[in-house]
Amino acid sequence: MFKFFRFLLIFLSLAAALLTIFGLTGSYSNQSYLTKTYMLNFHLDSLDLSKLLDSSGFSKRSTTTKDWASQIISSTGNSGSAVESLAASAESAVSSLGSDASNLISQITQLDYNDLGLADVYQLSFWGYCKGSINGTTKTLSSNEVGKQFDNSNVNITWCSKPKVGYKFDPLVVFKEELNNTLQEGVSSSVLSQEISYLLDNLTYDNLNLPGDLSGKIKLFGNLQVASFGLLLAGAVLAVISIIIQLLGCFMSPDSCCLSFLNFLFECLIFIILLVGSILITFTMSYTKTEINKNTDDYGVKSFLSINFYAFIWSGAVAALLCTFFNLLGHCCGLFSTGRRRFRSAVHDEPEMVYSHHDVMSDAGSFKTEAHSSHHSSHHSSHH
Ligand SMILES: *[C@@H]1O[C@H](CO)[C@@H](O)[C@H](O)[C@H]1NC(C)=O
Ligand SMILES: *[C@@H]1O[C@H](CO)[C@@H](O)[C@H](O)[C@H]1NC(C)=O
Ligand SMILES: *[C@@H]1O[C@H](CO)[C@@H](O)[C@H](O)[C@H]1NC(C)=O
Ligand SMILES: *[C@@H]1O[C@H](CO)[C@@H](O)[C@H](O)[C@H]1NC(C)=O
Ligand SMILES: *[C@@H]1O[C@H](CO)[C@@H](O)[C@H](O)[C@H]1NC(C)=O
Repeated sequence: MFKFFRFLLIFLSLAAALLTIFGLTGSYSNQSYLTKTYMLNFHLDSLDLSKLLDSSGFSKRSTTTKDWASQIISSTGNSGSAVESLAASAESAVSSLGSDASNLISQITQLDYNDLGLADVYQLSFWGYCKGSINGTTKTLSSNEVGKQFDNSNVNITWCSKPKVGYKFDPLVVFKEELNNTLQEGVSSSVLSQEISYLLDNLTYDNLNLPGDLSGKIKLFGNLQVASFGLLLAGAVLAVISIIIQLLGCFMSPDSCCLSFLNFLFECLIFIILLVGSILITFTMSYTKTEINKNTDDYGVKSFLSINFYAFIWSGAVAALLCTFFNLLGHCCGLFSTGRRRFRSAVHDEPEMVYSHHDVMSDAGSFKTEAHSSHHSSHHSSHH
């Protein structure tokens, strides 16, 4: 019985470690067995750039530039006519830039996301992000059959960013990276190139309108993502350590009750760590998905969660819970079998000694452990 529980506990710890690691390695690189696991993706199929880019945000920036220019001019004083004419020319230059900018922005919002070099689908992982394209046939369908777009089963992942530990997803950074890539690769028309470099220089969270209230939550969610990554990784590492401890326990049959009670606490700790890590990332990503999908009609963007990823991390947490539960149950069963064994050994003392010297030795070991732990738990119950 004791051995069976040991085996079960080792198996469950192994399951908790492996499942969590499968979740953690999701979308680590562009391999089809990795890219099926991701935290969240979003399809840009019918992205409306006029919603995403807030044109008033851009003009607000140019008025602050104007204020700044006139402040400098007034602080230099208006003693000479040269300075005055300089001031006038500077102001007119700034205002013409401002009107140019609003022209540019209104042109940019007419563009298609493909023109800016954005991919059809982006998916997030703990390590970075991957880009994908929608399988050709669905893409052509989407233009005339509204509502039939956003098919999450037809995504072909084509590229993943270089994996980075402690990655925090930031849509503004990714957007700018994509714009920069597009520029570096070379754009056919000079107008488009001008528009893209304008965006690259001037895009900030003041003029990037994310769906719902996501703009204000990017920093928090980035930190939660890193926290969740740290917790899940720590949980997986501790689960591996607990496997090693239990394997050692199998061979050495630890005598100290302290070790087995500590082992129980250790399993509890692993479960709590995995649980909190899973809750954090599930909350963050499902909140993001809900905010995006509430605004799908406006933005033309739709988000999906990967079933694989959540299945892996939550199964890992459940395996850790079962491990804790069976650890406890093992101790309870230990109490019963101790009673029987004591009775048996009192009746047939010598025969047992004869045919299985080794077994008795290990039984004595486990008997001691169980006796101590029963002592311990009775202490506990007397406290309550
Ligand atoms: C793309 O569509 C074709 C035809 O519908 C299908 O045979 C193929 O498996 C799809 N590819 C992917 C990656 O979904
Ligand atoms: C996925 O995309 C790549 C690059 O565009 C292409 O070479 C490959 O054939 C695609 N795979 C499928 C299954 O459509
Ligand atoms: C990414 O993987 C897909 C499918 O395995 C492949 O078609 C594509 O060429 C890969 N892309 C890169 C940049 O290696
Ligand atoms: C764009 O990319 C180039 C090379 O990849 C890099 O040197 C440059 O700093 C980038 N510019 C911006 C604004 O990110
Ligand atoms: C960014 O905006 C400022 C102010 O509107 C403008 O002066 C500057 O030229 C813009 N950058 C680019 C690359 O157009």
